Amino acid sequence: MIVATAGQKGGTGKTSTAISLASGLALQGKKVLVVDIDSQANASKVLIKDYINKIKRGNSICVTILDRKPLQIRKTKVKNLDIVPSHILLSNTDVELTTARDHREARLKKELDKIKSKYDFIFIDCPPALSWLTLNAFTAADQVLAVISPGYFELDSIVQLGKTIEEVREYFNPKLALLGFLFVMSDPTVNSRTSLQILRQTYTSQVLKTVIPRNTDLRDAHFNKTTVFEYAPQSKSALAYKKLIKEVFNG
Ligand SMILES: Nc1ncnc2c1ncn2[C@@H]1O[C@H](COP(=O)(O)OP(=O)(O)OP(=O)(O)O)[C@@H](O)[C@H]1O
Ligand SMILES: [Mg+2]
Repeated sequence: MIVATAGQKGGTGKTSTAISLASGLALQGKKVLVVDIDSQANASKVLIKDYINKIKRGNSICVTILDRKPLQIRKTKVKNLDIVPSHILLSNTDVELTTARDHREARLKKELDKIKSKYDFIFIDCPPALSWLTLNAFTAADQVLAVISPGYFELDSIVQLGKTIEEVREYFNPKLALLGFLFVMSDPTVNSRTSLQILRQTYTSQVLKTVIPRNTDLRDAHFNKTTVFEYAPQSKSALAYKKLIKEVFNG
């Protein structure tokens, strides 16, 4: 199953969710791949030892998206978890793809199709924009996991994400499904409570039951370049992501 963690807003918890779901499933013994298609390369920097020295443009996702070459897969610090790392030069994508004459939305799908049978789960970590990169992710994916944090602008961005999913279904990937809306960084404030209430009223059954709390252990784990399951396995965020895995993937 290929899942894209997406959302138009920046800093909502997309990457944290991709890392936590991927590493949580890998710890359960599943074969998992993370494809990092954000030029910020946040997931790559957490999961790859010595990212700065080891990853250059030539062994990153750039070669697939920009040069139409096979995926550069490497192992991570976590057992059973592989990654296709990102690189800052991926930020040229929208400019470079403007004049492309191939099916530029399907460059990732074309290469992922060749290797996807090796994995139980593949997570594509999207950038915070509905760009050619996100279109590549949605064209390759089976499911979109929309990551929503509290706030008016965050809720507002869902409409645009919904339109993009519709467009991709119409033009590129008719089977693309919405895995659900995941509410993250929940805390005891009125703003957070109201946001979740509005989300549930508006999107009802599409909102996942599991809510991820705002929790500094998750932030600290990534600051220390590790996953929350290794850093603080009993923390609120680790337990919440485990619950989410059960809700969504273990049925
Ligand atoms: N549940 C949480 N509790 C506390 N902090 C969190 C939580 N989830 C994410 N964070 C922190 O919030 C910041 C943004 O998270 P993250 O990088 O996952 O978001 P993103 O949506 O991928 O951002 P971008 O749009 O830049 O790619 C990070 O510093 C991260 O450690
Ligand atoms: Mg991110």
